[in-house]
Amino acid sequence: MGLGTVGRAFLRALAENRDDIGRRLAEPLEVTRILVRDPARHPEERHRLTTDARDILDDPEISVVVEVMGGREPARTYMLEALRRGKSVVTANKEVLAYAGPELWAAAEAGQADLRFEASVGGGIPVVQGLTQGLAADRVRSVVGIVNGTTNYILTRMTDEGSSFEQALAAAQAAGYAEADPTDDLDGHDAARKIAILASIAFGAHVSPDDVAVEGIRHVTAEDIRYGQGQGWRLKVVASARLEADGLLLRVGPAFLPQDHPLAGVSGAYNAILVEGEPVGQVMFFGPGAGGGPTASAVLGDVIEIAWGRHQGVSAPRPVRYRPCPLKDPATDELAAYWRLDVVDRPGTLAQVAQALSEASVSLRSVEQRPKPDGRATLLLVTHRCREGALRQAVANTGRLPVVLSMGPPIRVEGVD
Ligand SMILES: NC(=O)c1ccc[n+]([C@@H]2O[C@H](COP(=O)([O-])OP(=O)(O)OC[C@H]3O[C@@H](n4cnc5c(N)ncnc54)[C@H](OP(=O)(O)O)[C@@H]3O)[C@@H](O)[C@H]2O)c1
Repeated sequence: MGLGTVGRAFLRALAENRDDIGRRLAEPLEVTRILVRDPARHPEERHRLTTDARDILDDPEISVVVEVMGGREPARTYMLEALRRGKSVVTANKEVLAYAGPELWAAAEAGQADLRFEASVGGGIPVVQGLTQGLAADRVRSVVGIVNGTTNYILTRMTDEGSSFEQALAAAQAAGYAEADPTDDLDGHDAARKIAILASIAFGAHVSPDDVAVEGIRHVTAEDIRYGQGQGWRLKVVASARLEADGLLLRVGPAFLPQDHPLAGVSGAYNAILVEGEPVGQVMFFGPGAGGGPTASAVLGDVIEIAWGRHQGVSAPRPVRYRPCPLKDPATDELAAYWRLDVVDRPGTLAQVAQALSEASVSLRSVEQRPKPDGRATLLLVTHRCREGALRQAVANTGRLPVVLSMGPPIRVEGVD
């Protein structure tokens, strides 16, 4: 279902690797029907195109449905129906999975069909299989990753070339790494869906993207990045799920990482996911996070697994039993933060800002004041570790000061006390 970037790459990979796949499986894989909206756009496939999903859902010969249309509907409805009818489903659709996961698993159990979704997170990186199989024995403590290639490309360009946010976004769009409407990527929603999927697997709890505290990167400036470089930090959009004593903490947002952090060197459109568990310790998954080829590789891998399972007479999904898992309130989390303020450059300004922070019980680790034209100055602050709730209070206090002309939101700094 769907013949766009991933659908076409899937057909290509299947054709190119037919012999190898045939050797691994006892029977060949055959794509018999392809659902499209406009057959005239795909003349090379006309013998197997259809515009009616019933031709697939009602066909008893079809045992696996590959959904690569994207979007919530009709993808969700088609997947549910296929599963209930005993057809296994492979999807790359993080949106449907993140919001309709429990419904899909219930349908898979009802139809004794398999549901696989390796391509929905991390493109070609086998992280779903890594978590569900390779680390099945572990008690996972945290899953922390760079899972959005668009924002990683933008921040890498801003870091390596000193570009502004707008220049880096335009470059990402020109290179095909950012959509015409990049809202979901820039504002963190795409990464929130992916960390929700990973957290659901890692912690056996149903996590919705709405449970994730999300911050975007539109406010990040070249000056922020340069300041961080001077401190030995790299700015990344980090998606994290951590199991703490008081609940599961889920967030997506920009964070400065020390240069020796395992995720700091992940550049461009690459993705990486760092998993920490017992007894395994730290495991890192790394690779191409998007693109037709890598995504098709993950989709085809899932289809092959299903075909092999069917051949062995095992087509049922592993039952998913979600356990209740309380969420931790991010306001109770602790962080050190970097913060940029534009202020009126006159005696007493810094003292007022320091007072506003101190009233919220936030203490300063360092301050740099940079003179700007027209009697203004930029203050670059780094706080000691404090409660996030206290930092929010400090932002509110500071925002009320007449000497403060504008300010960006604070940015988390890892590895600082
Ligand atoms: N591209 C990647 O790098 C990547 C990576 C990971 C995951 N994914 C996921 O993979 C899925 C597909 O992505 P893509 O990049 O291949 O998207 P795409 O290039 O936009 O392709 C989607 C295709 O599905 C077709 N389609 C949409 N709704 C349909 C419907 N109701 N009936 C029939 N056909 C329909 C579209 O037809 P029209 O051409 O008529 O619109 C289009 O050809 C999405 O869920 C995406 O999130 C993609």
